[in-house]
Amino acid sequence: MVLVWERTFEMKGLILAGGKGTRLRPITYSMAKQLVPVANKPVVLYGLEAIVKAGVTEIGVIVGDTADAVREALGDGSRFGCQITYIPQPAPLGLAHAVQTALPFLGNDDFIMYLGDNLIKSSLEALIDEFRQHRPAATILLAEVEDPTQFGVAEMENGRVHRLEEKPRQPRSNLALVGVYIFSAAIHDIIANLQPSARGEYEITEAIQGLINTGQTVRSHIVQDWWKDTGDVAAMLEANRLILEGLDRLIEGTVDADSRIEGRVVVEAGAEIIGSVIRGPAIIGPGCKIERSYIGPFTSIDSHSVVREAEIENSILLAETSVVEVRGRISSSLIGRGARVRQTQQVPKAIQLVLGDSSQVELP
Ligand code: G1P
Repeated sequence: MVLVWERTFEMKGLILAGGKGTRLRPITYSMAKQLVPVANKPVVLYGLEAIVKAGVTEIGVIVGDTADAVREALGDGSRFGCQITYIPQPAPLGLAHAVQTALPFLGNDDFIMYLGDNLIKSSLEALIDEFRQHRPAATILLAEVEDPTQFGVAEMENGRVHRLEEKPRQPRSNLALVGVYIFSAAIHDIIANLQPSARGEYEITEAIQGLINTGQTVRSHIVQDWWKDTGDVAAMLEANRLILEGLDRLIEGTVDADSRIEGRVVVEAGAEIIGSVIRGPAIIGPGCKIERSYIGPFTSIDSHSVVREAEIENSILLAETSVVEVRGRISSSLIGRGARVRQTQQVPKAIQLVLGDSSQVELP
């Protein structure tokens, strides 16, 4: 009898939820960028759920300054069918540094790394299966983008990744590195010898280049569906549009006889729609009150917000905001938790602003 011992490789998950989110200020002064809601759900949950759905349930979450809020949102993972280990990164010294910090958790196992502010539509199962079958040192995802200077950029040769560069001034292709990677333990040896880049960070892009330089296999796929790095307001609004596109109509709150709900709209439990028109795709969170207002396509309004005599479209309102008696239509806006927007009741009828640091206002 011949016994064939086949080693089974465990796969862990590693989600990065540190970083400062400077391009999403002022929202990120008080909140982790990975917790900003897209269609009323913190962006990081989309990645977490995709990883769990692919059968990976032991997940490390790298946290920084916003650790407490991330812990509160994700808990021990049991709500999502996984076990979460929190891994504090002492300083935001780059993605490769985050991997190094996670080494005691990762051990020798393969791992799928997901940047907590990234969103991809395609599922991860096929990618993980393929990794298990071919056992490369790394699998990376690439996407064609208009401005590659904002990303890691891949140069291909004969269908293989030949060279990777982090945020090049003169990109050699329009193929950006998506923030979802699968690694074998081989990456750790490379990271151990990495030098910080010009921006002072230990770059995962350079570590992957190190794998290529040492003759190890790096497989790549070009994402066919959409991918978004939700790092700034425009990208966040676009991610919101893309997720809302896939919404199914569900009305759990109350809608009075004077209101009209058009198309794919979710009205969550305890929300009240009074004398208003909601044109989907849109989502109205639990406990919201929408009165004599118009909510247009691609709008997400998070829990316990109030909109009265106002018009809003293509926007994200976080929880407990209020928009009351506003004359012009609000569009393409990201409004932070508890923010208040209203028509002034006093003279002078001037624009009166109380804005946090780095706020942006565009007046018609
Ligand atoms: C990081 C990576 C970059 C990648 C991007 C994807 O950049 O360094 O290679 O293309 O994520 O979102 P960051 O967003 O941290 O600047």
